[in-house]
Amino acid sequence: LATTEELGERIRAAKETLGDRVVVLGHFYQRDEVLQHADFVGDSFQLAQATKSRPDAEAIIFCGVHFMAETADLLSTPDQAVILPNLAAGCSMADMADIDSVTDCWEQLEDLYGTEPDADGRVPVIPVTYMNSSAALKAFCGEHGGIVCTSSNAETVLEWAFARGRRVLFFPDQHLGRNTAKAMGIPLEHMPMWNPRKPLGGSTADELGDAEVILWHGFCSVHKRFTVDQITAARLEHPDVRVIVHPECPMAVVDAADEYGSTDYIKKAIEAAPAGSTFAIGTEINLVQRLAAEHPEHTIFCLDPVICPCSTMYRIHSGYLAWVLEALVGTAEQPAEVVNRITVDQKVAGHARVALERMLAARP
Ligand code: 13P
Ligand code: SF4
Repeated sequence: LATTEELGERIRAAKETLGDRVVVLGHFYQRDEVLQHADFVGDSFQLAQATKSRPDAEAIIFCGVHFMAETADLLSTPDQAVILPNLAAGCSMADMADIDSVTDCWEQLEDLYGTEPDADGRVPVIPVTYMNSSAALKAFCGEHGGIVCTSSNAETVLEWAFARGRRVLFFPDQHLGRNTAKAMGIPLEHMPMWNPRKPLGGSTADELGDAEVILWHGFCSVHKRFTVDQITAARLEHPDVRVIVHPECPMAVVDAADEYGSTDYIKKAIEAAPAGSTFAIGTEINLVQRLAAEHPEHTIFCLDPVICPCSTMYRIHSGYLAWVLEALVGTAEQPAEVVNRITVDQKVAGHARVALERMLAARP
């Protein structure tokens, strides 16, 4: 078995041979041994933008999870190949909403609210999907006047949606939806949760009548682990601690924290802090450990004392990265080939692209 160092050498050699023909994108949650080879590192919004910035590259190697690679395929040119080094790198939250259940919910909402715009021209419901969703759900949003959001622009996107609709159906992450709507001043009782096992979500028509944001039941198994007790313990031990959590955390955790924001927000908050600051962070461990190593002038630790990586992000390791790059180079015996290409079905690509482009164009 090759060591990490040997794999690193092979990756560097293949990248040098390929030059500008290939670009490697990496999400903040990736392992260090992978990220050191990335040409661009960012949160999911920045990676979507980065995809568009390199139309010259023949191949985009996406070190992240499946929905991110699908997004890259949607935003890249038809000639570019998007490669996910390990096809088993999915996202359990993205799998919590599927097109059949969302369509079923949508049809019930149409029965309840109708489809006619009000006197201000606002339609009854706008669908908003978190980036962490399949291309089919992005297409659903594109087709039904909706939009995509990420953790860094959710408020801007909800404002975009409320300018066009009286309420929002938000999926798959209930926590991002709830935390964002609450920060915008929407009362909790106007955010019913859709329950697919009961007709009309188990809510009465009256409850849904008041709804401003209808939440899906999805969640992230990594961010669900953070608790208010962990924040209390961090504050007891470090009275000057600044607690920053990701908006995929439950509402009570976001409320108990000092701040919340996307992975890039967390990184920038740490970079901007005066030396000697103490941070307790509620997000995936690879990012927290990297930030702690990059900022020895601060004390930085993860709120969760049990090390908990995102198991699917973790499925990309340097062996896979070496393999997909070397396949692109080829050998005398083995012609160059694209392996693990992610291609979004043409039936959904057009509408999915519409929803993504609306997000990229949405401004606060
Ligand atoms: P960011 O958009 O903050 O990078 O988050 C993506 C993600 O999957 C967090 O779990
Ligand atoms: Fe999905 Fe959670 Fe992993 Fe993000 S951290 S990719 S939401 S499982």
